[in-house]
Amino acid sequence: MPQLSGRTEAEESCRIEGRLRGGTGGTMLVSAKEMLDKAKAGHYAVGQFNINNLEWTKAILQTAQELNSPVILGVSEGAGKYMAGYKTVVGMVNGMLEELNITVPVALHLDHGGYDACYKCIEAGFSSIMFDGSHYPIEENVAKTKELVAAAHAKGLSIEAEVGAIGGEEDGVIGMGECADPKECKMVADLGVDFLAAGIGNIHGKYPANWKGLSFETLDAIQQLTGDLPLVLHGGTGIPADMIKKAISLGVSKINVNTECQLAFAAATRKYIEEGKDQEGKGYDPRKLLAPGTQAIKDTVKEKMEMFGSVGKA
Ligand code: 13P
Repeated sequence: MPQLSGRTEAEESCRIEGRLRGGTGGTMLVSAKEMLDKAKAGHYAVGQFNINNLEWTKAILQTAQELNSPVILGVSEGAGKYMAGYKTVVGMVNGMLEELNITVPVALHLDHGGYDACYKCIEAGFSSIMFDGSHYPIEENVAKTKELVAAAHAKGLSIEAEVGAIGGEEDGVIGMGECADPKECKMVADLGVDFLAAGIGNIHGKYPANWKGLSFETLDAIQQLTGDLPLVLHGGTGIPADMIKKAISLGVSKINVNTECQLAFAAATRKYIEEGKDQEGKGYDPRKLLAPGTQAIKDTVKEKMEMFGSVGKA
């Protein structure tokens, strides 16, 4: 076989398609199925941390590597747009996996995707998608989820579906926080989705003071019907550790965190500026200005990975 830069032709064509990495090492993106099946069997959860820019992505990947933990990078439609499109995100993440020598399992996952966004991310090189059809009548949610399961699996991606809207607001998507109907969860689980998000009283963003807590009764009923299927807990920000542990014991294997990293980043950046550090020497240099916020994201991710039990599970 002809050799191109020391590689066989087949290796070269795989590499060009981004499926095989040459050079210094680092992993390639993986579907989230295997890591979540392992988490479910091992009674821990893998964190999905949403990314917003380069600093976020680097901080999360480096922390996962340091702690030898699998990790899922979440990208909402809004964040994808902000980061100049899904292809830009795929290029940035793949570049970091290689250049930072990341060897732990990493999935790049569309968060709360609409129908069109799911196809765009499959095309762009994501390794996992979430189709959020929870705002459709159940029949339509089922039909669209079924179609997208086939499309995702044909390209080796994992797929998450949602039943029962998650409360709060995220990127303009507003949910009322209803609890999912376990029978509907079973219906969607049977479509072959790899993991399932079910509303159990969880809310995106900060929890209000009068929040009633997670409905473990609902979670338990869902797990009874869906068996080994990994369940997903959205709205991971601010859920107390005891509730997280109980949710994991009832089948939650993936926990999504977004707002908590944003709050940590904002507080550390505010402190830096309020202390006037941006005005000392070259403190205005973005590499200095954004450093405390980036460290705060790392600290938050570490705390969550320890709480979820994914440390050392790569
Ligand atoms: P939080 O912003 O509440 O952490 O929720 C994140 C999330 O569920 C992303 O889908």
